[in-house]
Amino acid sequence: MASHKRIPMIAGNWKMHLTSKEAADLAAAMKKGLDPDLKHEVLLAPSFTNLHAVKAAIAGSRILLASQDVAWEEKGAFTGAVSPAQIIDAGCTHALIGHSERRKIFLETDEVVNKKMKAAIKAGIVPVLCIGETLEERESQKTYRVLETQLTGAFAGITPAEANRVVIAYEPVWAIGTGKTATPDQAQDAHVFVRKQMERIYGKDYAEAVRILYGGSVKADNIDELMAQGDIDGALVGGESLKADKFLRVIHFQAVLSR
Ligand code: PGA
Repeated sequence: MASHKRIPMIAGNWKMHLTSKEAADLAAAMKKGLDPDLKHEVLLAPSFTNLHAVKAAIAGSRILLASQDVAWEEKGAFTGAVSPAQIIDAGCTHALIGHSERRKIFLETDEVVNKKMKAAIKAGIVPVLCIGETLEERESQKTYRVLETQLTGAFAGITPAEANRVVIAYEPVWAIGTGKTATPDQAQDAHVFVRKQMERIYGKDYAEAVRILYGGSVKADNIDELMAQGDIDGALVGGESLKADKFLRVIHFQAVLSR
């Protein structure tokens, strides 16, 4: 079994799927199937409306709860938005921020992502910051530039102490929901670049400690080779996290670090 220098995190992003009953049943199955000795952090991100049901279902387990988004304002006239205090009240310790679907479909800019990061951190929520390039950007050799811009934007004005607990998820957009996973080498290469960027922004110690998850068609049958890469510290899993047996296999990955 691998001895990772950073505690692995496996997160399930359930997107706009499941009723509260279905979400509670799936969460209960996760709780039941989890190896009690496992030291990884396991995170579930259901829809806002299912947070309470999932919280009840995972009570007494080590599973953590995340929202899929969070507003940057504390309260007020923001129809449809959910505040940091409200997601904490619903049991969340973490929030996904800047998922590519939020960026693309809901037109979230790096500036919006930055405001959400700051609001979450201020409230004591751990952001799981999602970044990644589109296929067009990759094919026109812009991957590094895009990642650099997204990271610089997301962390603008955030001090090292504030950035301390942030988790980063590298998710190439072309790999999300497409069945096209980045190869372990492609993912490792991007993770090394992201870590270098974090060194540029916050220094070497921070870069060594920050956890960088891979996301994009992570499956029970490719998690082991991904987790064998030295700079992949976990996974953000969409489709495969909706099937209890498959997601449990992802969580209990078996990887021998290749470096
Ligand atoms: P996928 O989604 O695993 O279904 O590709 C990942 C994500 O969007 O976080």
